[in-house]
Order: sequence, then structure tokens, then C-alpha cells
Amino acid sequence: MVIRNARLMTCDPERPGLGMIDRGAVVMEGARIVWVGPDNEAPAGEATVINADGRLVTPGLVDCHTHAIFAGDRAGEFAMRAAGKGYLEIAEAGGGINATLGPTRGAGHAKLLGILMTRLERMRDGGTTSVEVKSGYDLTTEGELALLRTVKTVAALESPRVVPTLLAHLVPPERKADRDVFVREICEQWIPRAAAEQLATSVDVWCDTGAFTVDETRAIIGAAKAAAFGVRGHVGQLGDVGAAELMAEAGALSVDHVELISDAAIAALARAGTVAVMLPGACVQLRLPVPPVEKLRRAGVAMAVATDLNPGTSYCETLPIQMWLATTHYGMTVEEAWLGVTRVAARALRVEAGALVAGARADCVIWSCERPEEVPYRYGTNLVSRVICGGA
Ligand code: NIG
Ligand code: FE
Repeated sequence: MVIRNARLMTCDPERPGLGMIDRGAVVMEGARIVWVGPDNEAPAGEATVINADGRLVTPGLVDCHTHAIFAGDRAGEFAMRAAGKGYLEIAEAGGGINATLGPTRGAGHAKLLGILMTRLERMRDGGTTSVEVKSGYDLTTEGELALLRTVKTVAALESPRVVPTLLAHLVPPERKADRDVFVREICEQWIPRAAAEQLATSVDVWCDTGAFTVDETRAIIGAAKAAAFGVRGHVGQLGDVGAAELMAEAGALSVDHVELISDAAIAALARAGTVAVMLPGACVQLRLPVPPVEKLRRAGVAMAVATDLNPGTSYCETLPIQMWLATTHYGMTVEEAWLGVTRVAARALRVEAGALVAGARADCVIWSCERPEEVPYRYGTNLVSRVICGGA
């Protein structure tokens, strides 16, 4: 298959900026890209030709932070927050993450499988071809492993590609009294068993006010590293408890949210090469302060942009609207927003994706517009014309 006459955004790190090729072509063989370059130099051969007609063609988008496996919703909380109630206030009154545990625990494999597949289809329709999926809405040993097994079943379908993460989300109400035992269970049961069954590639901890403490997080990180998992963290969303520093020290793949993060932490993240994942949908919805984008940029911390798809703070399945928020509300450039949902997001997930280069998986999006800036600019319209995922 060949895409011809494209305004190609390769995101190839060997090319400057977004790696644009104004009249470009992409040649694919099966599930792989075999050639990328100027249209007039494209190798000849038998092929199905897609004429892009000068439209924008980009890598398939990479959503590097989602909680896509949950049942039920919390629309009522959305309405309460719209009427002025705070996130922690609602959580303390029995809402929040704890309100999603019941429906998710009760759903079972078949129902969750259906829910997840429907969500992944919506994501793909929005241009996403690689997506991270975190567990974290069961919070019992057997339940968390079961969630990850469901994710693994869907991952085998490869459309889009799924990257599973084990999330130590918070201490559920029934474990508050013996939270040290709960943390030990995470370290001694969840993590080694997830590793033995190859159910995840990284471990995420929410280290924040109202979630895990720095000491608890340090223990969980230790267990994750001992089992050869990558490490990432939800940090600095509701308070600055020093979580970003801890993640940098652990060589984390990413720190996510980072609304509240110190200058020292930013310097440490830059040294560690940790990606900062921007979740502007959740930030806006909780009316949090904007992360220090200019400081992160100046320090040389790479920034990704993701949906944070979850029932509480960001029930959003597609990335272009997050790119709009990242540019309009966060002050990221159009180039940063695009790299944030492609190459940088792939780096945060440690997967080969997010660039149109020979050898990469054949994931690309043909848009019904011509210029990169149009996608965030026209944020209310789905401009995705066609998605090619693994060559299909
Ligand atoms: O990323 N911060 C922690 N977890 C989610 C919220 C999950 C929920 O409210 O259900 C987040 O915003
Ligand atoms: Fe999240």
C-alpha cells in the first residue's frame, strides 16, 4: 500500500521540527512501513495507491496515559463539580475513585472486555493507534490481575496497539486501617505476579495528597524495579509532596499531571530524561493551575500530551481536543503538541511508534485538512479521514 501526494508529517527525529515533507509518500508492506520520502522518488511497484490529495498525513497518535478499563460512570460528580464542589470534597463524601471500584469489581471479564473494545474503537476513530491502559479500579490482588488479563486479551487484537500498566491508584476505604499491609501486598503479590504472567510493562503509582505517601511509593517503586518493570507516576496533581523528585531519582519513564512541581524537581527530571505527561483535560476539569510549561521547556524536559481517559476527571477518548487545550490553555506550541501525541508519547511508553520512518509499524492518519495547526485549531470537529493501523 502506498500513500501518495501527502503533506507528510513524519516526526522523524532525523529531520528538523515535525519532519515535514510537503509532497511525500509512504510505502507500506503488510504491517510495516518500508519507505518514506518525497513523492517523486517513491519506489515503483505493484501497490494499492491512496491519493492523499495534498492532505495532512501523520503518524498514528499515541495516547500514553489512560484508565480505559473501568465500568460505570460518575456523571453525577461532574454535575456537582460544575456546581462548585471540589474533587477531594466529593471523594471524601464517598465519591471519587472509590465510587468506580464497585461497578468495576462487579462487571467481570466479558463485560469489561466489551467496554474496553468499544473505547479502543472510539480512540482509533479519533486517530489513536497506540494506547496505554492502566489497571487501578479494582484494588484487590486478584481483581487487579484480572483487569490486566482482560487488557491482555484485547492487546492481542493489536488494533490499536495496547501498552498495559499496573497502577497502584490509592488505598481503598476498606484497607485504610491496614494500609501498610496493603502496600506490602502490592509489593509482594501484585507486582511479582503481574511480572510472572507478563501482564504489564510498567508500574504507575499515584503519589499525592490523598493517595500514596512518598515512603509507600518508594517501596512500590523498589518492588517494580526488582521485577524489571518501568516506573511512572501520577504526581503533583493535588499537592506537591516531593513525588516528582522521587520519580526522577528512580529514573521513571514519565511523571504525569505535574501541575504542582518544584524547580528542583524539574531539574532532576531533566537530568533523568523523564518525560512530563500533560493531561490538560483533567487539569481544566478540576480547575487546577497550569503546569510550569515554560520552565519544563527551558530545562529540556520532553513533554507528552494524553487524554487521561477516566470516569472522574477526564472522560475523553481522543487526543485532538487535548492538543487544543495543550496549546490554548498550557501555552505549548503546535509543534510541541504534535510531538507530544506522537514521538514523545511513544518514548514515555518505551514503544517504537509515533514516527513515519522505514521499519516502523504501519500506523498513520490521513486528515481532512492540510496544515498541522488545523487539528488543534478546529478542535470541535473530528478531522480524521482515515486511520491505518498495523497496515490495515
Ligand atoms: O488521573 N489522579 C488519579 N487518577 C485519575 C483520576 C481518577 C478518577 O477520579 O477516577 C487522574 O486524574
Ligand atoms: Fe491518570
